[in-house]
Amino acid sequence: MASSPNTIDNLPATRERARAVILVVDDDAAQRASLKDDLEHEGFAVELADGGRAGVERVKRGGIDLVVSDVKMPDLDGLDLLREVRSVDPSLCVIIITGFGSLDTAIRAVKLGAYDYLPKPFETDHLLLLIDKALAERALRSEVVRLREEVNRRERLDNLIGRSPAMQEVFSLIRRVAGSQASVLITGDSGTGKELVARAIHAHGPRKARPFVAMNCSAIPETLLESELFGYARGAHSTARTDRQGLFVEADGGTLFLDEIAEMPLALQPKLLRVLQDGEVRPLGTNKVERVDVRVIAATNRDLTAHLREGHLREDLYYRLNVVQIHLPPLRARNEDVLPLAEHFLTHAAGRAGKLLRGFSESAKKIMLSYPFPGNVRELENMVERAVALAEGELIGPDDLPPAMLERRSQDRLATAVTQGLTLDQLEREYIERVLDAEGGNKTRTALRLGLDRKTLYRKLEEYAAAPRSGPGGTPPKNPGE
Ligand SMILES: Nc1ncnc2c1ncn2[C@@H]1O[C@H](COP(=O)(O)OP(=O)(O)OP(=O)(O)O)[C@@H](O)[C@H]1O
Ligand SMILES: [Mg+2]
Repeated sequence: MASSPNTIDNLPATRERARAVILVVDDDAAQRASLKDDLEHEGFAVELADGGRAGVERVKRGGIDLVVSDVKMPDLDGLDLLREVRSVDPSLCVIIITGFGSLDTAIRAVKLGAYDYLPKPFETDHLLLLIDKALAERALRSEVVRLREEVNRRERLDNLIGRSPAMQEVFSLIRRVAGSQASVLITGDSGTGKELVARAIHAHGPRKARPFVAMNCSAIPETLLESELFGYARGAHSTARTDRQGLFVEADGGTLFLDEIAEMPLALQPKLLRVLQDGEVRPLGTNKVERVDVRVIAATNRDLTAHLREGHLREDLYYRLNVVQIHLPPLRARNEDVLPLAEHFLTHAAGRAGKLLRGFSESAKKIMLSYPFPGNVRELENMVERAVALAEGELIGPDDLPPAMLERRSQDRLATAVTQGLTLDQLEREYIERVLDAEGGNKTRTALRLGLDRKTLYRKLEEYAAAPRSGPGGTPPKNPGE
């Protein structure tokens, strides 16, 4: 069976055509009807407006993919319509049909952002060609937007930002573990985002509508920890004037986040284990047992295996807590995250401060990327907050960064030493003198810090005293002949 040439011609465009709604705007009823016929015949859905005003109103209601409009109309002409349509939806393509020989209008239309123009009289095929091109371009543009959104989505999970493979792995673990009841142990240095991860697990699981209760085991005196966690009955201790619900009961149906779990006193550990195993809580000063359904997520910035070895943590509790482990590497080990995090904090801080900031200058970015962030994400967040407060231009520059970050950079002494061509002896002298200075001239401490015995340090210092430095840069090279 031979297909009609028409069908073959239309093949590449059928996908866009099938869904496209075209709005035809013309005050001439005959012209409107004939365009409608032609376009519907080609598979488009067509809507009509009998003037510019009606056209704009129709566009405002949404659902239009492309506008074909005549120029000369009594109420609102094609160029004004174009202007208004573009302010409603700048991505909408408008094709303007101009009168015979009015090149002027055509140029103005394109300048105002028309997709293209078509002088009267025109062939339907010519109009169809323009429409197909415009729709294909629009589809491409929305595909780009979609891909960009997808990248953004992949680089974040709730408030967690992470482009690095390590964080991507953490995201995937969070998603997988969120649906289960398994206890999770989150490890990582201070400021790496452990609490945010715990919140994300809660928010993505079936308990999300129930409470998330966080408790920092190191922030509460050991004597109060037990009643805080398990509650107490009136009279259980001197300050217990009424019954007090513990955090386990408060978190019933939800999640209890135990931060700094390494600080959990050994004496409390069996009681904690019992809740984890049997879901049973016994408030202080009672014999009654309450049943709770709580998911426990624990976190630590300590090495728990050392804790185990030293007997500060019960092994059975450790295995109960550590069913799934999520480790957050220090920020310096995932450099790819630094800039996305910085941008994220910038957006928030600038919003709070009511400042218009476009981003970071290239040199500020370089400094951030070479800084090791011992305080991890928290340090980066504070740094951005400070920079936003200080920034005067629309970009954050090196001057807005903390002096400590800049010093590190200017103190890349080894790089300078290489360019200056210092010898090892010269570099050694400079280093020894610096440390001596930093130790306030105390030679014993200096020797200790340098890993030298005192006698060697004294000998070196005597040598230096005998050969004063030539300039600020360093010692003159030793002349073996002297
Ligand atoms: N991946 C991330 N994306 C966005 N913000 C983050 C991320 N990681 C950490 N933060 C932010 O950094 C700060 C510190 O994070 P968080 O309190 O979760 O760290 P932590 O590991 O619990 O630290 P600590 O051990 O000191 O309690 C918070 O303000 C948090 O919002
Ligand atoms: Mg924390």
